[in-house]
Amino acid sequence: MYRVSLEGRGDFTEWRDAARTFLSANVSPHEIEWRCRGEETGLLGFEEENLPAAVDNATGVQVPSAFMPLAQTIICHSDPKRFSLLYRLLWRLGQDRALLQFKSDPDVAEARKLEKSVRRDSHKMTAFVRFKEVALATGEAGRRRFIAWFEPDHFIVERKAAFFQRRFTDMDWLILTPKGSARWDGEALETSRLAAEQPDLSDETDELWRTYYANIFNPARLKIKAMTAEMPKKYWKNLPEADLIPDLILNAERRVLEMGAKAATEPQLFHHRIQAAAENKLAPALPDADTLEGLRHEAKDCTLCSLHCKATQTVFGEGPANADVMIVGEQPGDFEDLAGRPFVGPAGKMFDQVLGETGMERQKLYVTNAVKHFKYESRGKKRIHQRPDAGEVQRCRWWLTREIDLVQPKLIVAMGATAMFALTGLKEKLSDLRGRPMPMDGGRMLFVTVHPSYLLRIPDEQRKAEEFQRFREDMQAVRRLMEARQESELLVSAVG
Ligand code: URA
Repeated sequence: MYRVSLEGRGDFTEWRDAARTFLSANVSPHEIEWRCRGEETGLLGFEEENLPAAVDNATGVQVPSAFMPLAQTIICHSDPKRFSLLYRLLWRLGQDRALLQFKSDPDVAEARKLEKSVRRDSHKMTAFVRFKEVALATGEAGRRRFIAWFEPDHFIVERKAAFFQRRFTDMDWLILTPKGSARWDGEALETSRLAAEQPDLSDETDELWRTYYANIFNPARLKIKAMTAEMPKKYWKNLPEADLIPDLILNAERRVLEMGAKAATEPQLFHHRIQAAAENKLAPALPDADTLEGLRHEAKDCTLCSLHCKATQTVFGEGPANADVMIVGEQPGDFEDLAGRPFVGPAGKMFDQVLGETGMERQKLYVTNAVKHFKYESRGKKRIHQRPDAGEVQRCRWWLTREIDLVQPKLIVAMGATAMFALTGLKEKLSDLRGRPMPMDGGRMLFVTVHPSYLLRIPDEQRKAEEFQRFREDMQAVRRLMEARQESELLVSAVG
């Protein structure tokens, strides 16, 4: 019998190195006893570790690619049986490469169960870590500092550290847990596998959380089952808002009744226009919709959905009436709504810059949006962009389809998921269709890419630069597609 003891704190390499040694010496799973270092081993204690001699020129096992991420996840689980389970899987994969596909196999089923538990724990960590600000010493300059205490079930701190770095890149933070800690100071992300002590973090930020939670709690939407599934009780003790929950639940029914009694009796602002829109839901028979200019003119009075009620004006597409390329965005933003032209705000400026860098001229493109009115929510003086819903996109499709019929572009570029949905009806993940030209009706092609606003919202500078570069490459691909198409047309007309 061989015995091996591992630290077992989420480090994949220590298990992998030991597993390699055993595998190269052809040691079968039942000949090995795997332990966590420091683990109690009964009256006799754990005898010395004994490993087989390393074998030169060992061939090893070729594992299917799905095994590595599975093993890297499972190794973070706190169940000591994970080492033997992984070795058994590895050993068996040497005999049957398709093993992982058999979900009913007891080892595979157990592995998937552990994997799910680690994933769930990781998700909970992203949801329930609560940072508290740590005051800088008097006279001390520097970035704001935050600290958080969290109690995960598994060794997931290293796995999740990069997520927090991306999410909270602008502040210095330290996350302490009994299963290791992570630290970010704006330059380096450091992790430690040592167990941390719980710091005393109660302070006035708790009050902030509690006020926030009590305010967003909607008694009319109370679903206790879903709520306790999403926010299991074991996390409550470290959540400042948790002790409010029982009272909020208890009073929910009374508050719903009160809310009903207080419901607005005044008609909604813009109700005249909403009423008019409701009466005019069907696609219009427009006398002047046979030319692009006529269509633009008709669109000024569009009431196909209620978005026109709050928007300043219709923002119609613009560009040559015979453009080869049509660019379709989501909907006008704040700037566009005021200017009455598409893509003239921050996203438009960024788009113009990328066009310039890829050698495309905006004046040659027809630029439009899936939805022609700005949808927003007022917060104080600000108008906050709201994504149009599927019904609004479907109603506005009438205009987009007419624009396509009249312009007859050879290539349409859908920027973002809304444009993709408007043009294809597909709600697929954008990344599944991105960058792959697809045929459309009328011999034209569709090219899907991200929306420029998405790039502007990425907080992490490095990721932002990478995503910008991908977007540039997409636009270069669009240019090349058009050049190839023009060349083949020239050829056809020369031959013809
Ligand atoms: N975003 C869009 O989708 N369209 C615009 O015109 C401006 C921003």
